[in-house]
Amino acid sequence: MGNVVVFANQKGGVGKTTSVCNIGAYLARAGKKVLLVDFDPQGNLTSSVGHDSKQEGIYEVITGGRALGDVTLKTPVENLFLVSSNLHLSGATVELADVEGWETYLKRALDPAKEEYDYILIDCPPSLGILTINGFVASDYVMIPLQCEFFALEGFFNMLFQTVKRIQKGYNKSLKIGGIFFTMYDSRTRLANEVISQVKATFKSHPEILFKTVIPRNIRLSEAPSHGVPVCLYDEGCVGAKSYETLANEVLERVS
Ligand SMILES: Nc1ncnc2c1ncn2[C@@H]1O[C@H](COP(=O)(O)OP(=O)(O)OP(=O)(O)O)[C@@H](O)[C@H]1O
Ligand SMILES: [Mg+2]
Repeated sequence: MGNVVVFANQKGGVGKTTSVCNIGAYLARAGKKVLLVDFDPQGNLTSSVGHDSKQEGIYEVITGGRALGDVTLKTPVENLFLVSSNLHLSGATVELADVEGWETYLKRALDPAKEEYDYILIDCPPSLGILTINGFVASDYVMIPLQCEFFALEGFFNMLFQTVKRIQKGYNKSLKIGGIFFTMYDSRTRLANEVISQVKATFKSHPEILFKTVIPRNIRLSEAPSHGVPVCLYDEGCVGAKSYETLANEVLERVS
């Protein structure tokens, strides 16, 4: 059965979409059949693999009864598929709010596809709202990208882990924390190193929660989406590409 992995962080711009796109691409290159689900109305994952947000996608599946297979798109990478997002998805937050079982809509949409894919990766918006909760309920693992910058770490982890615990208790016993990884690391700044040390200290009794691979700040990673391709098809030799390949290998080891 395929593994469903959600990438979440209530903070914006930390590298969720970039990670889903590139980890997905390297899992596909490793021979796995991978489905990317763009569950963010911003549609950045959709454009990162060369599609636009004007067509039917995940919104029409969760609310309109469209079959997932009917809206599944090919991407420039073999074995890598996409269910796109569009602006209607932002309306889903309001539409689902009062509906019984609102938290299970994405799960019900994805469960039938679990047999078809080795991995289903879900990209979420920057919040712990209705869409992200649907992502948690649908998933086996949650991955947390963390930008190497200063912010109130303690409050951040408390809120995130409390949400995960609530989901585990109420809706999805099989949800596990897949791991935390650092993105946009700049070795020249003291701050980045301090943040990493601080997070390591926070998890010193559970060091396995942190991935070994750290994703550096690399301009190639931010250029690739404007060409509609993952970094492996844009500049395979750049340090950002190599790092995501290594991280994808760690994901393969953890989630198999
Ligand atoms: N390692 C990196 N090096 C350089 N630029 C990066 C890196 N990772 C992401 N970026 C760029 O930083 C910006 C934010 O990244 P991304 O969109 O992946 O974050 P996000 O967490 O999905 O954001 P949002 O919360 O808005 O969905 C994008 O312009 C992206 O191209
Ligand atoms: Mg994003």
